Amino acid sequence: MKIDNFVLENWLNPACESEKNKVYLGGSCVLPLTVEELFELTGESLEDFLEEVKHMNLGYANFAGTPRLRRAVAKLYREVRPEDVVLVHGGTGANNTVVMTLIEPSDNIISIMPNYQQFDSIPKSIGTEVRQVDLKPEAGYRLDLNEVRQAVDSNTKAILFTNPNNPTGALLSLEEMEEIAEIARSVDAWVVCDEMYRGLKDEYMPSFADLYDKAIVTCSSSKIYSMAGTRVGWIICRDEELRRELFNRRSYDSICGGVFDEWIFAIALEHADKIFARSRSIVRKNKAIVDQWLKGHKYVHQYAESYGTTYLIHYDLDVDAEKFCDGLLDKKGVLVCHGDCFYMPHTFRLSLSHAEKLEEGLRLIDEYIGELAAAGKGMK
Ligand SMILES: Cc1ncc(COP(=O)(O)O)c(C=O)c1O
Repeated sequence: MKIDNFVLENWLNPACESEKNKVYLGGSCVLPLTVEELFELTGESLEDFLEEVKHMNLGYANFAGTPRLRRAVAKLYREVRPEDVVLVHGGTGANNTVVMTLIEPSDNIISIMPNYQQFDSIPKSIGTEVRQVDLKPEAGYRLDLNEVRQAVDSNTKAILFTNPNNPTGALLSLEEMEEIAEIARSVDAWVVCDEMYRGLKDEYMPSFADLYDKAIVTCSSSKIYSMAGTRVGWIICRDEELRRELFNRRSYDSICGGVFDEWIFAIALEHADKIFARSRSIVRKNKAIVDQWLKGHKYVHQYAESYGTTYLIHYDLDVDAEKFCDGLLDKKGVLVCHGDCFYMPHTFRLSLSHAEKLEEGLRLIDEYIGELAAAGKGMK
């Protein structure tokens, strides 16, 4: 099965590991935790954990998923039971499992753009018709729900998108979520929502899993939970028959999760409130710095109120996005993620979440922009 180049993962990961990368502002995971930091943050005993690990059985993990972890995941939602949780390898594993289980060549799907590329390229690779509906930058990356209503028909299998959105951070209101569910219901379609970035608001953030019986929600340990290396992903599916099919598909990919990964992440999730508090504080601090930088800037701006871990920055320079970011890395050692990864020309994704040298990076970006403008590339 031929599939598109996964632009984001194939460009960003090698760039990230390159020696040129001195100031990393391209990522979307909140600053990763070490094992020691995790135990300090949660107040759990590291010694007890290490003792448990010593006696851990290294056979396959529980096929249905470690019960302790499924219980902890279910508690992140209002209407979800532990048995509705399917554990998989990472958020990418979750999205892939869902799309490959659900979508068939004879279907059409609605892809809300910018989207995580799996939701667009995997359906295309199996021959499914993909109908794209764009978020509107000038409207703060809001969705025109009438466009979604017009795009669906009786052959629509699912509406697929990320909320909060990656890379813009735009968040649907509860009313908009309910309307999307209503549109899906009108044609008996599924809603497939990648909620990797859910959790940065102080109050409870509604999930599609709570709102619609034909919703499938994916999430993982990577972004807000700062534990991408554990590769724990999950799918919430309240439909028993589809859940059986998801387990069947997972058997072809990975059979079950990893024993260490599920155990340590279960401990972390039992203290989700503390992890959320840490992530919110990191993102808010960085956001204040970037907001200050953006104020009155001649060449860059962004449109959305971000509830994710990144901003999508638009720049008024006549340079393609990949070239702009390659040049920034080559000349200034600053790595941001180019907007062509999201089919968003003249933009880059800037991290609010993993940015130890944020101020230095912004200063270097300004230097670079100044040089491009001096070379006549400015569009203002
Ligand atoms: C929206 C979105 N979904 C899924 C993923 C992949 O998640 P994971 O690292 O858990 O595989 C990412 C990572 O960048 C993402 O941004």
